[in-house]
Amino acid sequence: MSNFDFWDTYERIVGHDYMCHREITLAYGEVLRRSRTHSVLDLGCGDASVFVRASRGLPVAHYRGVDQSEDAIGRAERHLSLSGDVPFDLVCRDLMGFVENHRGARYTDIVLGYVLHHFSLPEKRKVLHRCRELMESEGTLFLFDVARRAGETSYAAYHERLCREIDGNWDGLSIDERSVVKEHIRQWDFPEGVDETRKLIEEAGFEKVSLRFRDAAEFYVVFAATRG
Ligand SMILES: C[S@@+](CC[C@H](N)C(=O)[O-])C[C@H]1O[C@@H](n2cnc3c(N)ncnc32)[C@H](O)[C@@H]1O
Repeated sequence: MSNFDFWDTYERIVGHDYMCHREITLAYGEVLRRSRTHSVLDLGCGDASVFVRASRGLPVAHYRGVDQSEDAIGRAERHLSLSGDVPFDLVCRDLMGFVENHRGARYTDIVLGYVLHHFSLPEKRKVLHRCRELMESEGTLFLFDVARRAGETSYAAYHERLCREIDGNWDGLSIDERSVVKEHIRQWDFPEGVDETRKLIEEAGFEKVSLRFRDAAEFYVVFAATRG
């Protein structure tokens, strides 16, 4: 079973900005503007809409998106084709298998967007370690994800807090849609804390790890880091 099969609902979540995609896109645009040429690897790219919006008007040499969902890959294909001139390819497969077996290519920007939390701790370490190996020496990691807040010692505590937020504030979704999202969160989301996420990035060898955004309600986090 895919861990993400409600793309129409997710597009509405993004449209209502319930998961801070507006701030994420701004922060990503800032990172992209810092270097001149880009070869982007977007792991768990979804519909690629964050990249399409953040990279508007910027010279991107190539974009490669990886996602295990055929539905997401189809949407990414449409968004990237419509947006115009960035050469791209899309890979429909599990990202762990992709990073473990990928050889040869190096990327200036690697993006992990709302996907690392689906993995166990050892898997998170492995993914980040491989990301660094797949990166050019001047490269940048851009990571945004869900993250527990200080004192939230279990995944379940985070699940319940986020589910209360969804019930209380995500009124742009129907009751059924909210149920599907909450079920997904309880089954598939394993968010680390902000400090733990930073430590995982540093332990993989990245440098200049900087926190770019944390929402006031402390559900989401954005980090950038250099390969070092
Ligand atoms: C919450 S969406 C995020 C999409 C996009 N990065 C964004 O921020 O809008 C998570 C995406 O990760 C993909 N995904 C989850 N686990 C994956 C895995 N093991 N390998 C590849 N893609 C995965 C899902 O199919 C889904 O498209």
